[in-house]
Amino acid sequence: MRFATGDNLAVPVARPGEFEPLAIGSLAVDPPVVLAPMAGVTNHPFRSLCREFGAGLYVSEMITARGFLMGNRLTKLLASSMPDETPRSVQIYGSDPVDVGEMARALAAEGVDHLDMNFGCPVPKVTRAGGGSAIPLKPRLLARLVRAAVRGAGNVPVTIKVRKGVNDDLTTYLDAGRVAQEEGARAIGLHARTSAQLYAGEADWDAIGTLVERVTIPVLGNGDVWEAWDALRMMRATGCHGVIVGRGCLGRPWLFGELAAVFAGREPDPPPNFGRIAEIMVDHAERLIEFFGAEYGLRQMRKWCTWYTVGFRGSAKLRAKLVRIDSLDELRAHLAAVDSDEPFPLNALRAHRGKGGRTQRVVLPEGFLDDRDDDTPPKGPRSAEEIAAWEKALAGG
Ligand SMILES: Cc1cc2nc3c(=O)[nH]c(=O)nc-3n(C[C@H](O)[C@H](O)[C@H](O)COP(=O)(O)O)c2cc1C
Repeated sequence: MRFATGDNLAVPVARPGEFEPLAIGSLAVDPPVVLAPMAGVTNHPFRSLCREFGAGLYVSEMITARGFLMGNRLTKLLASSMPDETPRSVQIYGSDPVDVGEMARALAAEGVDHLDMNFGCPVPKVTRAGGGSAIPLKPRLLARLVRAAVRGAGNVPVTIKVRKGVNDDLTTYLDAGRVAQEEGARAIGLHARTSAQLYAGEADWDAIGTLVERVTIPVLGNGDVWEAWDALRMMRATGCHGVIVGRGCLGRPWLFGELAAVFAGREPDPPPNFGRIAEIMVDHAERLIEFFGAEYGLRQMRKWCTWYTVGFRGSAKLRAKLVRIDSLDELRAHLAAVDSDEPFPLNALRAHRGKGGRTQRVVLPEGFLDDRDDDTPPKGPRSAEEIAAWEKALAGG
């Protein structure tokens, strides 16, 4: 049986030679699948878990350049990796070319294999200061930032990730594609929603197709890959060179196994039943505890418990207990009570995890659009307190 939400969504698996490995500079990503950078999510524990199920490129969450350069303990931990992780990929968030260049240089010296730059952040605190997804509104500033990272990174390939624009009247992705290409970025990822849309509604895959036509560097399509079939559909419909998978893998790390299967021309295995998922949850919790320590690791695990159990029978009651766990034994005890044979619920395949469905009005700095050629970096946080407040806002975005 093919496991999919609808016949129209379950498309034929890849034909031999249909899709090339994704080339990011000298890096060959095969299958052409990238784990989206997600704040509070794509730390080493989750990346390593996803990698065990599949193949591809697994990007860190965004790491703020200021926090990194000032040696903030948590920022450094989030940017860090383990010797088992190759290729190692880090996403940089910064709006000052000097910081960004310095961070790229430091990470290249540490041996990272890929750097991504985040120009899609929709958080109000950030756009109000002219940062995040507001930056592509100023192509010359964007160019300075990409140039600084590319220079700092040396031989390490740099990519950028953008949204379609700030809102439907202020789209920026085509300018961003041109700039990325001119400044030596090796690929561009497009989350095909505007910042005003946040995570609501459907991503505009047509925009991905348009970008593919306009640039010569590889385009990574992003938005609404919930099932492995969506990745094939997106690549066939848009001609993009790879896909970035975000919320679809929250609580479903085996999605990367399904993706590897369909790109290799095989039908994916059915998803795990509840018993196997309980084992994966314990494994995930152990990884979080090992990396972050027991207290922070277990606190992180609580939100994962919600994502892993979406859609299972009677899971609301179970979740009420799981979001209060204080120990691994408690997690194990609660999970011991689940019906191991219960199959994965079909209605959870496209359940939106991680972000709600609200939209927003994007606020830019006063007069920001008066001079779009201005390449002055926006003022970012400088003191340790400002950086901490900034990072908290980013994590919530
Ligand atoms: C919890 C969460 C955190 C995110 N953090 C980041 C981030 O750090 N950097 C980034 O470029 N995008 C971030 N995003 C956006 C995702 O990378 C991706 O572009 C978005 O979720 C759309 O893909 P999807 O429809 O597959 O979820 C985040 C998204 C979520 C849900």
